[in-house]
Amino acid sequence: MKKLALITGANKGIGKEIARQLGEAGYLVLIGSRDLARGEAAAGELVADGLDAEAVQLEVTDPASVRHAAARIGQEHGRLDVLVNNAAIIPDGDAGVTEVAAGPLRAGFETNVIGVVDVTTALLPVLRNATAARIVNLSTSLASFTQVGDPESPMSAIRTLGYNSSKAALNMVTVMLANELRGTGILVNAADPGNCATDMGGWDAARTPAEGAAVAVRLATLGPDGPTGQVHDENGRLPW
Ligand SMILES: NC(=O)c1ccc[n+]([C@@H]2O[C@H](COP(=O)([O-])OP(=O)(O)OC[C@H]3O[C@@H](n4cnc5c(N)ncnc54)[C@H](OP(=O)(O)O)[C@@H]3O)[C@@H](O)[C@H]2O)c1
Repeated sequence: MKKLALITGANKGIGKEIARQLGEAGYLVLIGSRDLARGEAAAGELVADGLDAEAVQLEVTDPASVRHAAARIGQEHGRLDVLVNNAAIIPDGDAGVTEVAAGPLRAGFETNVIGVVDVTTALLPVLRNATAARIVNLSTSLASFTQVGDPESPMSAIRTLGYNSSKAALNMVTVMLANELRGTGILVNAADPGNCATDMGGWDAARTPAEGAAVAVRLATLGPDGPTGQVHDENGRLPW
């Protein structure tokens, strides 16, 4: 029986590449997409390349959508081996602390934090049914206190509080969930893909989405002695 992976926001960008690479590693991949037609198009691309992929409608800020997806996975598969919380936004109108309005701040937290917690807790029963499930949350160097706090770092000049602070909160979700699941065999880590050429990252970014996906795939396929409660990029562990 193939292992099963769900990637949220996998209809494009880094999420689609994570799905592709997990498919190439032998997983049946579920392409989470808030627009089912876009998810089906992405799944169709992977299937045309000989991979096992299906689309699942999943809007991470809509509890009904989250519950429906979790119920479907439970009924059809009974377990989930990998959950990659990839879906995220830089909210429209995001800005620095002295400029940002409450709306963009709330939007960032709704998708990047509350959405992740809701998806993860809804899927925890099927993740517990797998032998050794892995949870990977997509983080960023813009959530790193070490990098944003270094005036010499280019990260210190980027003024997107809604994005940075929601991803920093997601880092804490990662650490706390890893602690809560310690001893269950489920490993929980965060992946920093680096700046990649996508709609979010800007099309002039140096890295490809496939390069960015690789670290998430490595954390999604960790062996039993792998880390938990850490953030990694392609070179290994990062400071928070
Ligand atoms: N690209 C970079 O340079 C970079 C750097 C560091 C970290 N990251 C992280 O890597 C991840 C992927 O980024 P990306 O560059 O691939 O972004 P992207 O191209 O903008 O893709 C984001 C994906 O998330 C989906 N999404 C957004 N809000 C959603 C919601 N409420 N419910 C369900 N799906 C939702 C989008 O769906 P739609 O197509 O429907 O909008 C899309 O599939 C994100 O977590 C991001 O923070 C990216």
